[in-house]
Amino acid sequence: MSLLRRIEKKAPAAAPGTPAPAAPPQAPPDESEMQRRAVAPRARDAYLDLKTRVQNRLIAEMDPSMDVTRTNEVRQTIRSMYEAILQEESIVLGRKEREALFEQIVAEILGLGPLEPLLADESITEIMCNGPKKVFVERKGKLQRVNIAFESDEHLMRIIERIVAPLGRRIDESSPTVDARLKDGSRVNAVIPPIALNGPTLTIRKFFKKPLTIEDLIRYGSVTEESVEFMRACVVAAVNVVVSGGTGKTTFLNILSSFIPANDRIITIENAAELQLRQEHVVTLESRPPNVEGKGEISIRDLVINALRMRPDRIVVGECRGGETLDMLQAMNTGHEGSMTTLHANDPRDALSRIETMVLMAGMELPHKAIREQVASAIDVIVQLSRMRDGSRRVTAITEIQGMEGDVITTADLFKFEQTGFENGKVIGLLRPTGIRPKFMDRIEEAGIHLPASIFGVTSQRMRF
Ligand SMILES: Nc1ncnc2c1ncn2[C@@H]1O[C@H](COP(=O)(O)OP(=O)(O)OP(=O)(O)O)[C@@H](O)[C@H]1O
Ligand SMILES: [Mg+2]
Repeated sequence: MSLLRRIEKKAPAAAPGTPAPAAPPQAPPDESEMQRRAVAPRARDAYLDLKTRVQNRLIAEMDPSMDVTRTNEVRQTIRSMYEAILQEESIVLGRKEREALFEQIVAEILGLGPLEPLLADESITEIMCNGPKKVFVERKGKLQRVNIAFESDEHLMRIIERIVAPLGRRIDESSPTVDARLKDGSRVNAVIPPIALNGPTLTIRKFFKKPLTIEDLIRYGSVTEESVEFMRACVVAAVNVVVSGGTGKTTFLNILSSFIPANDRIITIENAAELQLRQEHVVTLESRPPNVEGKGEISIRDLVINALRMRPDRIVVGECRGGETLDMLQAMNTGHEGSMTTLHANDPRDALSRIETMVLMAGMELPHKAIREQVASAIDVIVQLSRMRDGSRRVTAITEIQGMEGDVITTADLFKFEQTGFENGKVIGLLRPTGIRPKFMDRIEEAGIHLPASIFGVTSQRMRF
């Protein structure tokens, strides 16, 4: 028995969308009020019931192998089945209701049901369904609950299956988590019972055709113009950069990659292709999870190794999460300077220890000191992103990896965020230069870029070291 059916069976018999019982009124309401209370929910229930009934019959009777991408044909089929059901069951509806119900049912069958208005809303960046009744969105960096619900676990499951099935992915009790993508590129993750105890859980990161630009980030106060000028110089001079953070990594990597000169051959490697580079010479590679039989996986690691044979000038890896980190470091150390990646860490030192752990995940028994030496010689700069108390995202440190002292990697902050206050729910502060010039300054100069000393907060006298 499919999980969908099981959930359906287990679902409580209570009609979906049943309103909570009203509290007993203090004083007897007048007659019209009593009528309104009694009739409105009943009419709504009857409508919902009709919609569910017609929809379920349609789904049961439709040919499951029908190619739902042929929208017009499918609409025609649904229309004739719909008319037949209404007639068979002697359901009389006005022209308007008939059309409205038809459109809703089509949205359920062909589209993503209650998710459609959330997907269409440009101000929403993320959609999270914790089971069918609790739906949250993120707007302007803030989480909020929305008044939208699925009818049942089964309803939400159906939508999840609709997303993953065309990609040849499966979600059921034996593989209860799945990563997928919507047609527009939005990234989807789903986890279902028995792993998710709240019921089917769906997270959608919306894909925007127009990603945030560096101008947006400057306007939001996420970075300063000086620090951007420095980072642009780093990228042009082919300095190896790692973006570290909890959120905003891909956005930032996209921006940094946009600074890569047009004549470089860029190879991007991601789990789900999110980077949107404008340069002409870009090769986009995407990893692939194993198929239903557990075969055919192409990991990020495989792709990094493969990329080395593709004459890359720059390798951009969306995110390092495991053993691919070792290959990335080796690429950075062997003539692919100017490569970039991101990783999940709370601060630059944490990023270094995460890198060490991830290198060990490659399964080579390398001594810690050897790994640190690789890290110190491969990575030049870590850009740290953080989410502030007020929900805003900022660059909180730009840190140079300077070398080794004994067993320890030495670092120096070139820019550091200084918080000066917290007013009206907003964090006040600035990303300030620390007065330290990077040791790789000569590489920037060699690339023909002359950064004014003031960028680093250095007066010209102190510059003459
Ligand atoms: N500086 C910023 N200010 C406001 N919103 C931002 C900023 N940076 C990113 N965002 C938004 O935050 C969301 C998440 O960003 P992004 O995809 O870059 O994060 P991520 O760290 O790559 O996440 P994940 O670890 O899930 O891959 C996106 O919708 C993006 O538009
Ligand atoms: Mg990302």
